[in-house]
Amino acid sequence: MKYALSLSVLGLSVMLSNAAFAESAGEKLFNQKCAMCHKVKGKGGAIGPDLSKVGGKLAEAQLREKLANPKKSNPGSSMPAFATLPKGDMDALVGFLKGLK
Ligand code: HEC
Repeated sequence: MKYALSLSVLGLSVMLSNAAFAESAGEKLFNQKCAMCHKVKGKGGAIGPDLSKVGGKLAEAQLREKLANPKKSNPGSSMPAFATLPKGDMDALVGFLKGLK
C-alpha cells in the first residue's frame, strides 16, 4: 500500500516536470518579462500591442532591435529596453517571438 502510494507520487512529479518542459525557455522569459504589457493568444496585458502575430510582422533583426532599444523605432515608446539580457535569454526570446504567426 505504501509502495503504491509512493509510485503514484512519483508519477505525479514526472507529469509536473513534463509540463514545465512543455513551456520553452523563450516562452517562460516572455511570461516573466513581457506578458504584463503584451498579450499573446488572448493572455497578457494591454499596455503594449498584442504580439500574437509579431513573428509575421517583424523580421528577426527588427525584433532584436526592438528589445535592445525600443525608442529607436518609436521615440515615444514606453517599453523598457532589454539590452542587458544575457545573449542566451535574448536568443530564446527572439526564437519564441519569431514563432508567433
Ligand atoms: C511596460 C510595458 C512593456 C513591457 C514590460 C514590454 N513591452 Fe513591448 N511594447 C510596449 C509598448 C507600449 C509598445 C508599443 C510602442 C512601441 O512600439 O515601442 C511595445 C512594442 C513592442 C514590440 C513592437 C510590436 C509591433 O507590433 O511593432 C515588440 C516586438 C515588443 N514590444 C516586444 C516585447 C518583449 C519581447 C518584451 C519582453 C522582453 C516586451 N515587449 C516588454 C510595452 C512593453
